[in-house]
Amino acid sequence: MHTMSINPDELKQINWFHRIDLGNGIVTPGFDDTPTKLRQIQLPENLMGKTVLDVGAWDGFFSFEAERRGASRVVALDGGVWKVDSIGKAGFEFARKVLGSRVEDVEMEVNDLSVERLGQFDLVLFLGVLYHLPDPVGTFLKVAALAKQDIIIETHVDMIEHKVPTIAFYPFDECANDPTNWCGPNQAAVEGMLRLAGFRKIKASPLTPAPYPVLGRRNHQYGRMVFHASR
Ligand SMILES: C[S@@+](CC[C@H](N)C(=O)[O-])C[C@H]1O[C@@H](n2cnc3c(N)ncnc32)[C@H](O)[C@@H]1O
Repeated sequence: MHTMSINPDELKQINWFHRIDLGNGIVTPGFDDTPTKLRQIQLPENLMGKTVLDVGAWDGFFSFEAERRGASRVVALDGGVWKVDSIGKAGFEFARKVLGSRVEDVEMEVNDLSVERLGQFDLVLFLGVLYHLPDPVGTFLKVAALAKQDIIIETHVDMIEHKVPTIAFYPFDECANDPTNWCGPNQAAVEGMLRLAGFRKIKASPLTPAPYPVLGRRNHQYGRMVFHASR
């Protein structure tokens, strides 16, 4: 990747989610703590020659990072915020231009994903999306079908005190006061979904606390987890 000169006015007008290092000391002012998330997800250092699909890419931080780590082809997909007028796709397009990146973009709702439409990828990144799904199991199986070998999931989890597969349902804005958060699977539920989708090797990270409230829950019963799975 090479960097080109940056128009500071254009950068300021964008409603950034990710903190992306654009070079020359400029980092996009995202409200997400992207550096911490990058450490937590443990993205492989070397992705040389791999194909990567980043589902729910938003400003594209993880797509650009996969490309920087050597991926031969990266597809950034989003069907949510890219279609919202007040957010849009400007951050992704701006960063892609400045970084001189060849990351491809696909505007698609996860429910419309299929191998016929997109093919398969060596690695699928499914970061911060699972709990946005009203039908988490059915939709996850569609996403998982696109992973030829590996998948990394980062997600909100809930009902951690239960050891059998359990999914909390948030019909309104119970989770983080956000009506787009629909569910909170526990560790056993995410692992069950992964097994159902044919993944054999599954590694779960320890629970990390979440910086938001969930109605009726105590803090140690929910949080965030990362899952690495391979076929
Ligand atoms: C919490 S953000 C996570 C962004 C990024 N993956 C990360 O971890 O930093 C959720 C992303 O998933 C996208 N998304 C949520 N539901 C979606 C759906 N049904 N179809 C496509 N994209 C979706 C949103 O537009 C948003 O970009």
